[in-house]
Parts: sequence; C-alpha cells; structure tokens
Amino acid sequence: SSAARPRHLLSIADLTPAEFTKLVLNASAYKTAVKAAFAAGEHPPKPLHGALTGKTVALMFSKRSTRTRVSTESAVQLMSGHPMFLGKDDIQLGVNESLYDTSVVISSMTSCMIARVGAHKEVADLAAHSSVPVINALSSDFHPLQTIADFQTIHENFPSRTPTDSSLGLEGLKVAWVGDSNNVLFDLAIGCVKMGVDIAVASPQGYGIPDAMRQTILSAAEGVASPGKLTETAVPEEAIKDADILVTDTWVSMGQEAEGQKRLKAFAGYQITNELAKRGGAKPDWKFMHCLPRHPEEVDDEVFYGDKSLVFPEAENRLWAAVSALEAFVVNKGKIL
Ligand code: CP
Ligand code: NVA
Repeated sequence: SSAARPRHLLSIADLTPAEFTKLVLNASAYKTAVKAAFAAGEHPPKPLHGALTGKTVALMFSKRSTRTRVSTESAVQLMSGHPMFLGKDDIQLGVNESLYDTSVVISSMTSCMIARVGAHKEVADLAAHSSVPVINALSSDFHPLQTIADFQTIHENFPSRTPTDSSLGLEGLKVAWVGDSNNVLFDLAIGCVKMGVDIAVASPQGYGIPDAMRQTILSAAEGVASPGKLTETAVPEEAIKDADILVTDTWVSMGQEAEGQKRLKAFAGYQITNELAKRGGAKPDWKFMHCLPRHPEEVDDEVFYGDKSLVFPEAENRLWAAVSALEAFVVNKGKIL
C-alpha cells in the first residue's frame, strides 16, 4: 500500500472556518515577523529560513500571471526551497500528454505542485493522481490563494476586530461585489460565508452565479454558527447599500477574450466610482479591493488610486498567503496549525 494521500488546496471550500482563520492569521504573523527580521538586517530571515530546504516546488502555469507567479516563487525562495517555474511552453500541461501522466511524473520528483489551469477539472485531475500536495493557483472556478490574501487584507484593515479559534471576528461586515461572477468571486464568497461576512453580488443578467456554484457557496454555511449571507441582484446600487468593502475584478477573464466586446457592453454601468458608491449608500468609510490585473472600465482611477483603495497591500499580501499555504500544506502536510 502507498503512503497516505496528500492534502490539497483547491478551494476555500476545502477548509474549515478554523483552518481558514489560521491560514489568514499565520500569513499576517509571517508578514510582521519577516519584515522585522529584514529590518533588523537578518538575511536570510530566520522565521522562514530552512522550512523547505532540499525541496522543489513545481510552479505549473498554463496562463499568464504577475502576482501568483512572483508571490509563490518568492515564498518558496524565502523558505529555502527551489521554485521551478514551468510555463505553458516549457511542459506538457493538458496538451500532448494526459494530466494523469504529468501528475504522476512531476509529483515523483517534487514536494508540491502549484498549478494555474483553465478548466477546474484540470487542477482536480492533477490532485487526484498526485503523491504530493497540489495548490490551485487559479482555475475556472476558484482562486484560494487570492482569498487568503483578501481576508488577510480585511483583517489588517479592520483592526478593532478580535479573532477567535474559528473566525477572524469580522462578523457583521458587508462585502459588495460589483461585476462579473467569476473564479475570484466564488472563493471570496465561500470565505465570506464561513467568516460570517455578508456578501452581495451585483452582476448583469446572464453573468450571475451558476446554480451549481451557488449551491457550493451556500453549503459553506454548514457547521458555521453565524454564516455570512449571500444575496444576488443585477442592480449595483442594491448590492452597495451599507457595504463596508466594494470589490470587483476584470470583466473579461483569461480565456474569454473572444467575448470581450460583448462583455464590455453587457457590463456598462457597473464601473465602480465614488458617485456609484454614494448613490448606492455604501458606508462612509468604505474600502476598495481588486485582485488585479485591473482595467479602468471596471473601476476608475479616482477609486483605484484613492485613499479608500487597499489594492496594493492586497497584492503584497499574496506573498504572505503563499508562505502560509506552503507551510500548512507542504511543511506541515495539511495540518493547519
Ligand atoms: N491576482 C492574481 O492572481 O494576479 P495574477 O494573474 O497576475 O497572478
Ligand atoms: N478572473 C481573472 C482573475 C485573474 C487573477 C481571470 O481568471 O483571468
């Protein structure tokens, strides 16, 4: 018989509220500790040094990436491992070779696969046949590393809240997602439900949450004492009412370029601006978040570069989210301590 199956991170749905809370708090704690170590002239920084010595992490990307590639590669480096970047022209990933063969072979030589794929089934297939942990670096359905960084950002910017063992203490906050119902939204919504944060989604008719995904998001409430509520509308102002955090993403995700023009038309009126926030009745001290890359059609410069925007700390937090996930899934073999 073979060794115990590794634990994978394919979606925030894979985590209990306590585990998700831990991943976020660990990310935030490493950020503080490693920055302090660097500031004290500690090179390499003791808090992470040696965690992945002698280990190779395969970074398998079939799509472009700035943040996910730089954060995961830097995280492995900070932990003394070897990040092996494998772009779509470097290896066979879903082309010319089965994902079964790719998974068995790469997992026989490395300690982790971090994979960015098209259809979610591709990363699920890699995980099903891998002898090492697989971390989803964005699929058609989910983006768990982004959601960890997003909740770290919320945790760090609503500092009066006190975390417990099973939640970040963010209950009562409201997130408004105005834009496309996509991969980034789905894991964010699951995180909100688990953390007791209400999430209102405004998407144009035809661009809402698919039924099966809605079931997945709603089932994140199981076993949660006071789960966040999901509401859906096609009216941005309705979603924005009393929101603490306004969030959006591109209207044209990677792979949807052919429908780009049609999408830009469908999303007219969905651009996040200060006027929209005011008209919708967002809380006076609302904050703005976006996973990036950003285009001006979904949020104007005034909001994106304004004092309500958390987008650059949010992007930086991708590094600490990657560190936290690698520690939990590779160093601690899926025990989230
Ligand atoms: N937010 C995010 O995943 O960005 P990249 O596509 O640049 O990795
Ligand atoms: N929804 C976007 C996110 C990129 C980080 C995409 O899938 O292209």
